[in-house]
Amino acid sequence: MLKLNLSKLNGFIPQDCLPARQEALAKAAAMLADHSGPGGDFTGWVALPRDYDKEEFARIQAAAKKIRKQSQVLLVIGIGGSYLGARAVIDLLCSPNYNLKKKDTPDIYFAGNGLSTDSLLELMELVGDRDFSVNIISKSGTTTEPAVAFRIFKNMLEERYGKEGARERIYATTDKARGALKGLADAEGYEEFVVPDDVGGRYSVLTAVGLLPIAVAGVDIQALMGGARQAMDELAQGGPDNPAWQYAAARHALYQSGKKVELLACYEPPFRFFAEWWKQLFGESEGKEGKGLFPASVEFTADLHSMGQYIQEGERIMFETVVKFAPRGEFLIPNDPDNVDGLNFLSGKPLAFVAEQAMRGTILAHVDGGVPNALIELPAISPASVGYLIYFFEYVCGLSGYLLEVNPFDQPGVEAYKKNMFALLGKPGYEEMKAALEAKL
Ligand code: PA5
Repeated sequence: MLKLNLSKLNGFIPQDCLPARQEALAKAAAMLADHSGPGGDFTGWVALPRDYDKEEFARIQAAAKKIRKQSQVLLVIGIGGSYLGARAVIDLLCSPNYNLKKKDTPDIYFAGNGLSTDSLLELMELVGDRDFSVNIISKSGTTTEPAVAFRIFKNMLEERYGKEGARERIYATTDKARGALKGLADAEGYEEFVVPDDVGGRYSVLTAVGLLPIAVAGVDIQALMGGARQAMDELAQGGPDNPAWQYAAARHALYQSGKKVELLACYEPPFRFFAEWWKQLFGESEGKEGKGLFPASVEFTADLHSMGQYIQEGERIMFETVVKFAPRGEFLIPNDPDNVDGLNFLSGKPLAFVAEQAMRGTILAHVDGGVPNALIELPAISPASVGYLIYFFEYVCGLSGYLLEVNPFDQPGVEAYKKNMFALLGKPGYEEMKAALEAKL
């Protein structure tokens, strides 16, 4: 399913890059498989494509069907790992223009992923008087951004449909036993889905967290899980031929050679939010203890006309990972009898051929400019290929964190802003901190 081409790293990393890390990779793979490494309590995602809860999976499909029947709009409320996966997959498989398309599935809007007043007001207007349902997703149930949005849309639902009617339209994805949202969902009788204890937010797209909104959009989630299952089975076979081992070893060698930034590039605009998901995955997993590659992304060819300059000639701190999907369809470039733009030499050629040459030319230019390139090639964008890619990146991320000797499954740094915000907002218990912070402002 996935082909990894590392030939354009030659000259940038030692030839024995993988053999030199083979022992460490074998240890990392074993720790992922038996959950014995740092953060091992959060490695439930490793076997998820095989061991997922089949009863819940059927309930997800039934709930998606009910939402599609009952509502013209689904609001998906969540942030970080409780947001990015669903958005990434829906954009990539259904298009960033999904809401504008003629379709028999509801419009899907994402809420609670920021604190912008303007965005919230706009969203309320966009929902308008259309029938809607809400999927509130929060493992802790106390994250400020989604909690605030949920208050608003829960009230809106109750005013419109009454308490009983609202209950029929609220779906809570949260911890199976603990937390504020779990308590509320039990008390109110909302349909509940589980964020498994052993799967952290950024690894949760293949749980109910991602699967319910994705299924509402009409995606074949069975095929998505099938692609992930294929990746799981293939990548569990360790050794030098394993593309996850090769890629993790290469990234680590590039980091050790002084590269600080990994730039994820794709020539498909619907990939933009997949890159956002990827940035959270790698940024939160590796960026700690003063270590880690900074994950960044670009959308080609658009960004070749903006960031292309820096990539070609700026600080030599980055390498690129290019993701290439085979095209889903064909478009032939038309002839222009006047040949005003001088491009008739391309008449009748597929646009994909032009894109391919743009990619090849770019890779060669960037490599010449000192930016090593890794290329990941996949068949056309489909639930199976996307499921495969999700698992591939998750697995590489787990291996990479262990090569870097960090815990890839915690995120202690995320708490710092929250504590300051709570203190400044005057949350009870934070009085001393508030005074100290205000003295600094
Ligand atoms: O990856 C993570 O753990 C975070 O991005 C969380 O998913 C995010 O902070 C949301 O947390 P919660 O689901 O508890 O609301």
